[in-house]
Formats: sequence, structure tokens, C-alpha cells
Amino acid sequence: MNGAEGRVMRVAGPVVVATGISGARLYDLVRVGALGLVGEIIKLDGDEAVIQVYESTAGLEVGSVVHHTGAPLLVELGPGLLGKVFDGTGRPLQALAASGRGRYGEPFLGRGAEVPTLDRARRWEFHPSIEVGAVVGAGDVLGWVEETPALRHLVLVPPGAGGRVDGIGTGELTVTDPVALIDGVPIAMLQQWPVRTPRPVRRRLDPDEPLVTGQRVVDTLFPVAKGGSATIPGGFGTGKTVHEQSLAKWADADVVVYIGCGERGNELTEVLGEFPRLADPRTGASLADRTILIANTSNMPVAAREASIYTGMTIAEYFRDQGCAVALLADSTSRWGEALREVSGRLEEMPGEEGYPAYLPSRLAEFYERAGSVRCLGGSDRRGSVTVVGAVSPPGADFSEPVTQYSLRLAGTFWALDTDLARRRHFPAIHWTRSYTLYKLGPWFDEHVADDWEDHRRWALELLQEEERLQSIVQLLGADVLAPAEQLVFFVGRMIREDLLQQSAYDEVDAFCPLSKQYWMLHVIRRTHDEALRALQEGADPETIRSLPAIAGVARMRSWPPEDAESGARELESRIVAELEQAL
Ligand SMILES: Nc1ncnc2c1ncn2[C@@H]1O[C@H](COP(=O)(O)OP(=O)(O)OP(=O)(O)O)[C@@H](O)[C@H]1O
Ligand SMILES: [Mg+2]
Repeated sequence: MNGAEGRVMRVAGPVVVATGISGARLYDLVRVGALGLVGEIIKLDGDEAVIQVYESTAGLEVGSVVHHTGAPLLVELGPGLLGKVFDGTGRPLQALAASGRGRYGEPFLGRGAEVPTLDRARRWEFHPSIEVGAVVGAGDVLGWVEETPALRHLVLVPPGAGGRVDGIGTGELTVTDPVALIDGVPIAMLQQWPVRTPRPVRRRLDPDEPLVTGQRVVDTLFPVAKGGSATIPGGFGTGKTVHEQSLAKWADADVVVYIGCGERGNELTEVLGEFPRLADPRTGASLADRTILIANTSNMPVAAREASIYTGMTIAEYFRDQGCAVALLADSTSRWGEALREVSGRLEEMPGEEGYPAYLPSRLAEFYERAGSVRCLGGSDRRGSVTVVGAVSPPGADFSEPVTQYSLRLAGTFWALDTDLARRRHFPAIHWTRSYTLYKLGPWFDEHVADDWEDHRRWALELLQEEERLQSIVQLLGADVLAPAEQLVFFVGRMIREDLLQQSAYDEVDAFCPLSKQYWMLHVIRRTHDEALRALQEGADPETIRSLPAIAGVARMRSWPPEDAESGARELESRIVAELEQAL
């Protein structure tokens, strides 16, 4: 370790004040004390540097040495990230466990451990895709390695580099071996990047394609765009984690970065146990092969929550730059907000709303703004995206608190989890009239699933709104005031809510619902509405309509095998139509 040395003056929880670090700059990385705890300079005041330490500061003493590394917090990028678990600063936790220096979830072991993110010994079969003499620029493809069966990892000219290719490697290489010589400079697969700096792109694009999640309430009603962002606030136990994990399992992303930020460690242990055994419905490959976990669980140091967010985001951008659709799932951004509040409190900064620092909104904005659909750097036409989904845990399920309020101003899709729905075990407890999406994805669905997809979606949303409106009338005046057609709205609204929008994350068939099946389920419900309305107008008895035997089939649609959805729907619709005719 080189650079200037300083001394610890004060220790206040995760915050350490040091003096004598010459040449210190904001966000430079330091190593604190004899153990070399990882910390970041977050404030400079004359000769004093305020450091947030990403590891427990227990036992740290005044006068301890502080090494200045002269560089910001960097994350190592290259092959070998997929299928791994890292802490907030990018140290592999599985590797820590293997070396016996610490175990995942045990925060105080391995403090100050210097373990590189990427395995230095592992060899990768490098396949060059350019020749000596070629002239390349940042983002151009030098070659590829098969990182996992799920992903061909493109090795790119790093940002800032470029020139004539004087040599190109081939065969079994480690991440630090040169793969190319460009204008005399050796380039290795391993790159480093400062986590707080967004990686450059050629151009940002309008997100116009959905991230397909297999969750009906999401895809059918409130889809998020690939390269867009969503926020999912919800009170205690309303289903934030189950939802994030469902997205991690089933969303049509090439790479998933899952950040467990200040939440329970056992939830990540479940992911670790479950993902290797699950297959990606698109590729058949193991889900672990496309997933990266960043673990900064509730028992781990508070300040590192911030690092976990930036480290995860930088890794997500790195895969985006290769042309991947990346989903970045953060559970929960509130814990990061709380970490900011704690550190700010220790700094005795002037508190803003509810004790959060005044820069809370700008931090959240920087986070959500790193989502995007982009034309990647480099000469080819690669398009990549980072879709961000941030869970928010408002205390007391009060959505007026700052983290929820700022998040919903920033994110394009808002999935409002409802405590009452969760209590009634309506899952996912995403409320159908309080949620929304700003992405205009109808044309994509019309083109790729069914040309009247958007028309069906609008019909469903309007019917649910109408149901809510009628509900308030009933509360005031009783159900007797409703006309038969209005009573039908309740009957059909209930089908939409219970038979379409409810979806169990634990049911083998229903956990993932392809778009065509979503469409046909909704088609049946709408047809039922249309035909029942006609029958009513022709004089059928409302009670007879409600008790048609075929209607029971609507509740069983969710267990249809997806490939039978269309035939099942057509058959069910014919039965309903036939029974309605008999009811006349
Ligand atoms: N889609 C779903 N299908 C079936 N059950 C669900 C679903 N979503 C949530 N649940 C049920 O709700 C419980 C709580 O969900 P979860 O742990 O995701 O809530 P949370 O909002 O993350 O809670 P916390 O505030 O404690 O983090 C789950 O254990 C499960 O029983
Ligand atoms: Mg949770």
C-alpha cells in the first residue's frame, strides 16, 4: 500500500475523522487501523478527513494509522462475476468462506481482508474476434469467453483506450494476462471502475420494450420498460422481497444483479440455495449462471450499504456495455437511506426531512438515473439496458415519508403494495388503482403478443376503476341501488382481481406466467363480461348468470399449462357463451 498516511482523531460508529492525509480527495479510498478497514473519504475540512468505514470499527483507537490509497472505491470487472456473492465493496463472500477467514453473514470475521473480486488463478478460454492491425476504440469487441452456459462474456476495449492492435491473445488466459496489445499498451480482461461514476455509453435510447416478468399484475397492468425503473414500496411483510425475488427468477434479463441491502441474511441464503436448482425459462440454463448477489445484510456494517448499491450498479452497467439486458434489484433502498441518515447524523449535518440528509433526493436521483436503455460504446450496434427495481420499506407503511416520495417521483413504474391486501393474502399485494406506469409499451405488446393487448389492458384498468367508484356508492347507499349491469362490474372485477391478478410465487405452474397466457386469461374474463352484459340486456336473470357452472373454470385458468392457454380459453369461452344462451 502506498500513499500518504494519516492518524485517527475520532471514532463515532461507522464514521472516523482523521488528520494528516496529504493529497486526500473526496471519495478516495483509505485503509484504517492495523486491520486496514476499508473506508471512503466523504468530507474534507481543512486537514481533517471524514471517513465512512465499510466494516465494523470496533476496537479502533485514536492515533491508529490511516493509509491513503490515492484512488476512489473501484470495483473489478471481468469474467468470473456471475454466480458469485460479493459484499458491498466487491469482496467475494464465498471465497472468504472457502479460505476459512470468514463466513457469509458473519460481519466481524475477515475485517480488512484483502480478497480480490475476480479469481486470479482461474483460466478462461479466450476467443479473439479481431486481428492484428485492426484499429479499435473504446467499447469495441476484442473477443469473448464463455463465462457461464448462460452468457458469452464480451471482452471490450475499456473506456479511454484505443488505437492499433499490435497483438491479440488466444487460448487459456487469466483475467490479468494481456489479451491484446493496443498502441503498445497491454489490455487485460480485468478492468477497474470507480463505483460512483456512471460508465460511458454512446447514446441513450427511449425505452420501448418491456422487461417481461411473468407476473400478471406487472406485465398486464403496470409493466416496466427494459432500461426503465420501478419502485415497490410496502409496509412490513407486504411482499417486497418475494416480488424482487420473483423478478430475479423470471424476468427476461440476461444478467440479474440482486442487492440485499440491510435486509435479512436468511433471505439471501434462500436465494443461494434455490437459484442453482432453478432453470431460466428462456434459456434452460441454471438461474445462478446469470445472477450476481451483492450481500450487505442487516447484520453487516451500515455504511457499506451505500457501497453495495454503487458496486451493484457498476457491475450492472458493465454487462449492459456488452449488450445485455440487465435487471438490478435492490432490497431495500430504505436501508441505504437509513445508512445515509446515520452517517449524516454522526457528521452533525443539518438534518432535512425526517432526519434524512438534504442530499437524499440527489443520491436517489443519481441511482435511478443510472437505469437506461443505451446504444453501447463501440463501433457495433449493440444495445444494452439496465432496469432498476428498488424496494422501499416505509415505516408504518406511510407512503408520505421521504424515501417513498422521492422514489416515486424518480421511477417510471410504481407498484404500490397494500397492507390490507397482504393481510387478506391477496398476493402480489400490488394495488390495481394506486399503482401506475409511465412507459408507453402498448405498441410492443400489440405487435408481439396480440394486436388488441393494449385494448384489453385499458378495459381491465377501467373496469377496476369503475368497480372502485361503485364501491364507494355501495358504502354510502347499499348494494340495492345498483343496476344489474353495475352489479356485473363487481362480479367481473372480482374475476380480474382474484383469478387474474392474484398469483402465487410458490406455485410451480403459476409462479411464472408467459405473456400469451396472460392475454388469454384476460380475454376469457372480458368475453365473459361482454356476453353476460348482452344476456342481461336480453333479459337473463343476474343471479343465474353469476352461478353458471362454466364460470368456475375461470378460477382454474392459472393452473393451465401455458401452451394450452389459447385452446383452453377458446373452449371455456364457448362453454360460457352456451350456458348464457340457455339462461335466457
Ligand atoms: N407473490 C406471492 N405469493 C405468495 N405469497 C406471497 C407473495 N408475496 C408475498 N407473499 C407472502 O407474504 C410474506 C411476506 O413477504 P415478504 O417477505 O416478501 O415481505 P416484505 O415486504 O419483504 O417484508 P419485510 O418488510 O419484512 O421485508 C411471504 O413470506 C409470503 O408468505
Ligand atoms: Mg423483505
